[in-house]
Amino acid sequence: MSSRNIAVVVLAAGKGTRMKSDLHKVLHPVAGRPMLLHLLAAADTLSPERTVVVTGAGRAQVEAAVAPRGAQIAVQAEQLGTGHAVMQARDALAGFDGDVLILYGDVPLVRAETMRAMVARLDAPDAPAVVVLGFRTDDPGAYGRLIVAPGSDRLEKIVEFKDADAAERAVTLCNSGLMAARGAALFALLAKLGNDNAAGEYYLTDVVELSGAAAVIEADAGEVAGVNSRGELAAVEHAWQQARRAQAMADGATLIAPQTVFFSHDTVLGRDVTVEPNVVFGTGVTVHDGATIHAFSHLEGAEVGRDAAVGPYARLRPGAILSDAAKVGNFVEIKKARVGVGAKVNHLTYLGDAEVGAGANIGAGTITCNYDGFFKYRTVIGEGAFVGSNSALVAPVTIGAGAIVAAGSVVVRDVTADSLAVARGRQEERGGWAKRFRDAMTAKKKGK
Ligand code: UD1
Ligand code: MG
Repeated sequence: MSSRNIAVVVLAAGKGTRMKSDLHKVLHPVAGRPMLLHLLAAADTLSPERTVVVTGAGRAQVEAAVAPRGAQIAVQAEQLGTGHAVMQARDALAGFDGDVLILYGDVPLVRAETMRAMVARLDAPDAPAVVVLGFRTDDPGAYGRLIVAPGSDRLEKIVEFKDADAAERAVTLCNSGLMAARGAALFALLAKLGNDNAAGEYYLTDVVELSGAAAVIEADAGEVAGVNSRGELAAVEHAWQQARRAQAMADGATLIAPQTVFFSHDTVLGRDVTVEPNVVFGTGVTVHDGATIHAFSHLEGAEVGRDAAVGPYARLRPGAILSDAAKVGNFVEIKKARVGVGAKVNHLTYLGDAEVGAGANIGAGTITCNYDGFFKYRTVIGEGAFVGSNSALVAPVTIGAGAIVAAGSVVVRDVTADSLAVARGRQEERGGWAKRFRDAMTAKKKGK
């Protein structure tokens, strides 16, 4: 890569009208993370000295999203074109002396490798001042066309579709919009831009011809796909998921029906993890080696230990931590609770704000009553405890290690270790009562 410093400029001043949204376009999530942050995360791997996001309407939303990453905001009050947009970064880049990488906030899937290749190309012996990322497509639509000197990667000019003649429109090498340029040259070239063109805009693309020294490198069309509508957002999500599924399998996870598994940007899967069909990973999930996520489970903010099992039909909510070899079965919901090594929570249970010791067995239909409408309270279940089916544990409450809670109990007081707690109506039996009742009622009905 280039030995010079890098500054990243992300264009995000477009109105995003076709999204029909109150949320700024570049903040719409892909795999649970705003598009803009996908881009900045990739760009950050180049260790840029400065990052500037050019925005207009919705500036406050964008600023809030990028402030934690130390990016600066430059405001483009009027959308006078992509060249004009880059010019708005001038103050933020005052005193910067290096290479500038220009990205589009609504083109979120560009890989760090591609960004690096663009900057590296600036350093090749022929020393272009500008490097443009192009792509090939059979359906070039309204993209700008890259006019390349025959038999080389020397880029002569970019012609916008609106301004192109028939021969230029026939070109299938298109402009992704992304560009790398030597900073000093870039701002000198931008100062020369005019807006005498079909759109009446200051085109960033005109710096190519003005520089007289531009090169093109090519990306896959999918990598530079842009988002202008909800449909395109879904297409980008689909592409991201496809790539992530392939990566998960390459890394040693089994996905039985990969098309039906949905990942988040930060999902972590160990080796020999099996994910059955129709599983959704929300953000913040780690699954350790050898664990199995059975069909139709939904996980978010959760950690699944080695060789643990989840589902089918389980829901792990934020703060669910399953230790190694723990089992969480069907129709179980777990929130802010730790399930100890080898413990079993197999059926129809809600555990919230709880701690379950190693080897404990939580019977079907157990509910931690953790909320009184005002505050949340903890339930602590000791190692090896056995909670009988259909028990309600009214928190705050502790079930001691090795204790047994009788099925159907409503436990409101702590249970000491190794004790039996029975907290339910005592069973009574009246011999012959049912037959007498039946006979009497049958006679009454006949008499009517
Ligand atoms: C631009 C390119 C075109 C390329 C296409 C790829 C120019 C002149 N044309 O065209 O060659 O094929 O992208 O998608 O650059 N933006 C601003 N301020 C503005 C205008 C745009 O910030 O004043 C931002 C937008 O938010 C967007 C990006 O720049 O992220 C591209 O803008 P857009 O209007 O979509 O450019 P195109 O006309 O599609
Ligand atoms: Mg566009």
